[in-house]
Amino acid sequence: AQRCAPAPTTPATRSADRGAAMLPELHEQFPLRAFNTFGVEARARWFCRVRSAGELAALAAEPRFAGLPRLALGGGSNLLLTRDFEGLVIKVEVPGLREIGEADGSLHVEVGAGENWHRTVERLLAMDRPGLENLALIPGDCGAAPIQNIGAYGLELAERFVSLRAWDFDTGQEVGMSAAECDFGYRDSALKHALAGRRVILSVTLALPKQWQPVAGYADVAHELRARGVSRPAPRDIFDAVVAIRRRKLPDPALIGNAGSFFKNPVVPRDEYRKLIAHHPSLVGYPLPGGRVKLAAAWLIDAAGLKGATRGRAGVYEKQALVLVNRGGATGAEILALAREVQEKVAEKFGVRLEPEPVIV
Ligand code: EPU
Repeated sequence: AQRCAPAPTTPATRSADRGAAMLPELHEQFPLRAFNTFGVEARARWFCRVRSAGELAALAAEPRFAGLPRLALGGGSNLLLTRDFEGLVIKVEVPGLREIGEADGSLHVEVGAGENWHRTVERLLAMDRPGLENLALIPGDCGAAPIQNIGAYGLELAERFVSLRAWDFDTGQEVGMSAAECDFGYRDSALKHALAGRRVILSVTLALPKQWQPVAGYADVAHELRARGVSRPAPRDIFDAVVAIRRRKLPDPALIGNAGSFFKNPVVPRDEYRKLIAHHPSLVGYPLPGGRVKLAAAWLIDAAGLKGATRGRAGVYEKQALVLVNRGGATGAEILALAREVQEKVAEKFGVRLEPEPVIV
């Protein structure tokens, strides 16, 4: 295993002198098109790449950035830029992957925030460290994974999360955060709201179960495994199945700009679900503990007649109505206008409000 790079912060790295020496290379009026998977044009007033807490300390001490808004960027895969960013964009490139011990039947692995998520899942699998395969092919970097508590095919990050290390701009210190402090929810955490722009994630520690059990209950996964004639799946079978399903349903951001699901699946009270299903018998809903029901937003958008719709250069993906796409040269504003139209039509037809999943700037 390699060393995880994040260097411990010492008081010396926070002094102005030392800070100046460690200031990362700065770019002004920097184009962000290659740094967001929607592939929209927008400029950052300031842009830099950071690989350590020391560099963040130097940025914090830099008078030019005092009072300016900050945006930490990972793979840019859960972001819609609708305008130029009049502040400092920090592209996090902290590298590293190392095993740091074990507890409660799990191996603990610390991953640098700048490591690509899918390549990390693959690497751990190749090292015979399974446990993340249901989350294969999710775009973006490891540091972004806790921010929206990434999830797919019956597993979410929170179930494999131990802690993270972050730089806190308000206190000028490195901090650790437990799962409780992250306050994970469905595609949500405290880092997406109250702490956004304040804390920059340096590394994430994950727990990989030593007694691996397949998570194969999600209908698509079970169906794919059956089709492949697999009855007792190994980690690699789950990985291959998830990769195949995602490739079929979701657009590759390298080819078609997108940010994965653009809306969360809305959760409604059981009574509301009953009224809806009386009018729309094919509505897809999943009962949650506590009596509420999670509706398939993709079904609602589809049933509102918007699957495959095109408005200017923005569109609703033909194969998955939950995904908005850049059909080539779309602006963030065009994509946002389409998102609003989707929200309005779904609200009109079903009385249900869809909430966007990506961070909108
Ligand atoms: N459906 C339609 N029309 C469509 C697509 C789907 O009616 O165009 C219905 C189908 O009946 C399907 C149901 O919606 O059974 C749910 O679809 P799917 O299983 O594909 O999952 P999803 O709810 O649309 C969620 C996540 C995805 C994740 C998949 C698999 C959210 C917002 N999205 O999508 O996450 O990959 O489940 O677990 O929870 C992401 O967050 O970016 C993302 C891609």
